[in-house]
Amino acid sequence: MIIRSLKVTNFRNYDKFNITLGSKMNIFIGDNASGKTNVLESIAILGLTKSFRDGLDCDVIKFNRKKAIIEGRVLNNKQIKDLKIELLDKEKDIYVNSKKIKRYADYISNLNIVVFAPNDLEIIKGSPSIRRNLLNMTLSQISYSYLVTYNLYNKILKTRNEYLKILFTNSIADKAYLDVLTEQLVDKAVLIYQERYKYLSRINDYISNIYNNITENNKVIKILYKPNIVIDSYDEESIRKSLVDTYKKNYRRELSSGMTLFGPHRDDFCFLMDDNTDMKVYASQGQQKCAVLSYKLSSIPIFKDNNGTNPVLLLDDIFSELDLNKRNKLLKYVSKDIQSIITTTDLKNISKKTLNDAVIFKVSSGKIERS
Ligand SMILES: Nc1ncnc2c1ncn2[C@@H]1O[C@H](COP(=O)(O)OP(=O)(O)OP(=O)(O)O)[C@@H](O)[C@H]1O
Ligand SMILES: [Mg+2]
Repeated sequence: MIIRSLKVTNFRNYDKFNITLGSKMNIFIGDNASGKTNVLESIAILGLTKSFRDGLDCDVIKFNRKKAIIEGRVLNNKQIKDLKIELLDKEKDIYVNSKKIKRYADYISNLNIVVFAPNDLEIIKGSPSIRRNLLNMTLSQISYSYLVTYNLYNKILKTRNEYLKILFTNSIADKAYLDVLTEQLVDKAVLIYQERYKYLSRINDYISNIYNNITENNKVIKILYKPNIVIDSYDEESIRKSLVDTYKKNYRRELSSGMTLFGPHRDDFCFLMDDNTDMKVYASQGQQKCAVLSYKLSSIPIFKDNNGTNPVLLLDDIFSELDLNKRNKLLKYVSKDIQSIITTTDLKNISKKTLNDAVIFKVSSGKIERS
């Protein structure tokens, strides 16, 4: 996939910009607070309909304006599509070729995005929900059935939690309905476990190689998937049996806590290095950054296999904390057959050769100039 052009109106610190992007590497250079991350954010929203930053959708609207608009022309398998997202105070409208799209699930495949932002170090250091969100963001883009199933799972989960509370307080409530909900939940959970397991196993096919390429090291990096039920094998029957047994065994516990304590909504995974040491505890800041970057880059061939096309790669402020050698290695790695959009405050000591194909944009206080 390639974003041909990007136009934003009343977005963050921009009144308006309209730029044509290069089909390979694009580098946005500017001082702090000039608006570099905002450019990446607008592209991420165009792909995912949501920002990678915390906060509300409407936070992106320029101060004292009513509506922010992001428009992009995307080329995918020789087909051009015009995407548009309008963000209002309490509303978000999505269009493909000027036609309004009602369901998020029907939009999400139009622009595939892999994004690395500085606070992504939280993927290693932070809470499990950060890692689950990351899994959902990627799997929703590469598997339509995952996206639909995951949404249904959450709906059933909510109802099951509510009914557990009713069962606990109301002695005449019927347990049979809980069993129906449990059955429905298990039905959806199976695919979520399978897709997550399959995806993380595939990440493991690439991650060490990419890590060692960037760092010139010889490390083994591994992602360990950690569901909160015991799963011996990821075939449908085994997962189903394990879940059903777990819910049976823990009925009283779930009842008294008034919520569903087991299932993919409690999943986690961790990053292991060499002798299975947890990178959260033992790895340096730079090692963590390279591991997360490698994780993100590992998803690119998976996108390619599943969707038949490369995603657009967004890398925010990637050079900080990386020594010079790694900066050049990383750029060299990225400059392959993929459109990337990179932000940095400077290009000091970046080799001219790597920058040959790159289009450079200068950003200064809400203005963008292609140089
Ligand atoms: N809704 C908004 N309206 C107007 N300005 C905003 C809005 N939201 C954020 N800004 C401003 O946008 C500016 C640029 O932010 P951005 O995060 O893109 O900077 P940056 O170039 O990535 O800086 P850094 O190098 O420090 O990461 C900031 O000064 C911020 O205050
Ligand atoms: Mg920034």
